[in-house]
Formats: sequence, C-alpha cells, structure tokens
Amino acid sequence: MREARVYSEIVPFDAPVSELLERRPKGIILSGGPESVYAQWAPTLDPGIYEAGVPILGICYGAQLLTRQLGGMVERTGRPEYGRTPLTRIGSSPLFCDWPAQQSVDVWMSHADSITEVPPGFVATATTAESPVAALDDTERHIHGVQFHPEVLHTARGQELLERFLFDVCGARPSWTHTNIIESSVEALRAQVGGARVLCALSGGVDSAVAAALVHRAVGAQLTCVFVDTGLMRAGEGEQVEETFRSQFHVDLVHVKATDRFFGILTGLTDPEEKRKAIGETFIRVFEEVARDAEDARFLVQGTLYPDIIESGTGDAATIKSHHNVGGLPQDMSFELVEPLRLLFKDEVRAVGEELGLPEEIVWRQPFPGPGLAVRIVGEVTPERVRILRAADAIVLEEVRRAGLYRELWQSFAVLPAVRSVGVMGDGRTYAYPIVIRAVTSDDAMTADWARLPYELLERLSTRIINEVDGVNRVALDVTSKPPGTIEWE
Ligand code: XMP
Repeated sequence: MREARVYSEIVPFDAPVSELLERRPKGIILSGGPESVYAQWAPTLDPGIYEAGVPILGICYGAQLLTRQLGGMVERTGRPEYGRTPLTRIGSSPLFCDWPAQQSVDVWMSHADSITEVPPGFVATATTAESPVAALDDTERHIHGVQFHPEVLHTARGQELLERFLFDVCGARPSWTHTNIIESSVEALRAQVGGARVLCALSGGVDSAVAAALVHRAVGAQLTCVFVDTGLMRAGEGEQVEETFRSQFHVDLVHVKATDRFFGILTGLTDPEEKRKAIGETFIRVFEEVARDAEDARFLVQGTLYPDIIESGTGDAATIKSHHNVGGLPQDMSFELVEPLRLLFKDEVRAVGEELGLPEEIVWRQPFPGPGLAVRIVGEVTPERVRILRAADAIVLEEVRRAGLYRELWQSFAVLPAVRSVGVMGDGRTYAYPIVIRAVTSDDAMTADWARLPYELLERLSTRIINEVDGVNRVALDVTSKPPGTIEWE
C-alpha cells in the first residue's frame, strides 16, 4: 500500500470493529495466514466488519475466511497449489480491469484449502487448474477476495491489482509522499512537544539521524543531540556526526568523549555477553549524566520504526544476544518518548532522510551494532586491538564502496579474532592477528547469506589490509550464512 503512496496500518485481526471504523479507513485488506479456517484456533473476524460499508479485499486465508463467514464453502480438496500458477479470468472484475482477457497471468499460490463455492451475492472471476474460485467479487458490497498473493513480487501484476483496489474500489489517493510525511510529522511533533526541551541520542546510524533531523525541523533550537563517543566507533564516524549536525544543521550537539571510560570497564572482559552488558550499562550512565545537566528536558527521541511496533508483543523468542541500542535508553528516567519514525518502514526513513538533506553516507549507512567494534573483536577489547580492527574495517568499507557493492550488501566489515598465526614478511617471521572479512546479503538481518565477493576485491582487501595495518599478517573470509552463524561474531 505504501509503495502505492497510500498510508496504511497493520492491525491485529481481533481489533474491535468499532475502533477500526473510528479511524475511518477507506479500505480493509485481510492478510493471508498459516492456519486452515477450520483449525481450532483459526483467527476469525467480527462479522460486523462485512456490514460496515468499507471495501474489503481478502488475500488467501483472508479470502477463505470471508467466504466461510459470508456463507460460501471452503474445503480441503487434496489439490493444494504452491508457487507459480497460471490464472485465467472468467469474468470482469474491477481488480483485473487492465489484465489481458484472453491470456493467463502468472500468480503466486500457497494454499492447501480451496474455495469451492462462492457466498450468496458473489461471483467467481478467475480460476486456475486446481482452484475453481481463484478470485471472487461482490461488487454491490465492494467485497473482494483472491486466493493468490498479489503482494509478492512473483505475482506479475500483483501491485497493479492492489492499486486497482486502492484507487478504483476504495477511492484512495496516492498522497502519502515524502513531503507529506515530513509535513505531517512536523505538525504532530510540534503538537506533542510544545515549547519543551527535547533530547536525542545520536548513534551515527540512519534511524537516529533521521529522527533527529525531523525533530530539528519541527522544534529547532529546543532540540539537544547527544553523541557518545565510546571509542568503539568506526573510522571517521564522530567527525561525520559533528559535521552533519553541528556544522550543517546547526543543532545543539553534545559530543561526549568517553573512550577511556569504556576501555576501562572493558579491561579483562572476554565473555561476549559480559562485554555487551558492560557497554550497554556504561552507555546509560554516561547518557544519564548528560541528561542531568539538561534537567529541563522533558522529551527523549527514539528512532523506533514501524516494524518494531508491529513485532513488539508477539511471542518471546530466545535471547540470542542482548542487544544494545541507543533506542534502549534508561528505563528509570522520566522522559516522555518522541518517536517520529514509528509509522515508517526503513525505505521511507531513508527517503525522508534524503529529503531532509542528510548526507548519503548516513542515509545509506549499513547497520552497525550499538556496542560497536567491541562485538567484532573476539576476546579482550584493548585500544591497540580497536586500532587494528578500525583500520582494517576502513579498508573493507573503502574497497567495497569502490567496487560499487556498498548498497547491495546488507553489511560488510572486518572481524578481529583472538588467535595469532605465523607468517613471513620481508625476511622476518611474524606472529600476528588475522583479519576475517564478513560480508552478507539480507533483507532484514533475521536470515543472511554470505556474499559472493569478487576475487579481485578479495585480493585487494587482502593485500591492502596486510600492507597497511600493523599487527595483521593474514586475511580470511567468513563463508557462513545465518543461521547457523550470526552476522556479528559476538
Ligand atoms: P546478529 O549478529 O544477531 O545481528 O546476526 C543481526 C543484526 O543486528 C545488528 N546488531 C545490533 N544492532 N545493537 C544494535 O543496534 C546491538 O547490540 C546489535 N547486535 C547486533 C547486527 O549488526 C546485524 O545487523
């Protein structure tokens, strides 16, 4: 929906219909789901939703559910369909108005139950070899269903179908543009914050940067940004934050140089979780001290994105690593939160960042973990080991950029293991650290594949890192996907 520039929200299936309607939706889309409509715990809808006069489009499970609830038949026919499937139109439909009438169109299917009979008032508008009802319409009530998935890339004309629903059936307008996003955020921020002081922790990453830039656009000098230099940042990161926020945007920026403090608490720590916790806690303490100085600040900016909001409260997955984010700031502080990105997806955040004039290096920055280089240094974190890793990392990023692969890769970086190996440089024996190159492709960091970097790039990386970084005599490549590996080494 958002790609079609229509504002949309995801709500749980059991949200009360009255609450939904209060928000005056132009249309409702029912998603697919893994259950059978006959399963004991199958999600079901308050039937009042069908009487509300709001256009509905059911997709896969959503189509089966509305069929069942409105009096049609859904059966386990023993003829499931998975993957690419040719679809034939058998009637006219506002959803298909631009599709060719005579040819079949490839759609993506994934279902075991099938709709075998449409409810009263509906007509079937498309079939496939195994599905007598692959699409159904009740044009009187503006209720539609499709058994296939228009939202996936493999359904050739899926986005077009969704746009027909949005624009022709629902009468929505493509008004959710980046300029509009900025304008409505600015308005909402001013209303929330009034004349109060606002604090924002900058991490150097895209989310906190865009959040800060938006808040600054809204309330200007009421905003104070805090950048804590932990000594665990990448090369040039602190300078870039200074340059962007202080010099370019004229934001009131507190740059806390806390390197010694972080190295102090990391001395002697080798366990990954202990390192993460120590850094997270120290970060909070440092931030609290700054906040105490800005005691009149009432609001704290967080770079929470819409996916975080959708996911929060769903199940509790095992803790693989305890994450530290600038978002995870002190719970016992009495700030009110300002979350200007809470309705946005990552691609929208980037577009807004570009529109606000943030530099490309920030807007397109690859993700970087809160605990910084520390989780890429196996074993003890010392100034010397950080120096080695930072120098190697800068070379990796420089060469990846030069090869034109920076945006394509989810992340690309260097890792410093806790072993040393023998080498020969000049005429002498060396006994030094290896650097491991880690580069992955991913959509969301939940799973990742190791990137097939070109040999020429690997060769340049190996030569440059060994020649230019004192203390390194070997370069290796990590060829582990996630799972079983994680992206970071710790
Ligand atoms: P893993 O290593 O668990 O990482 O596969 C998944 C993604 O999360 C990033 N990461 C973090 N991000 N705070 C963050 O903000 C953290 O503590 C943290 N640890 C890992 C990692 O870079 C990858 O993108």
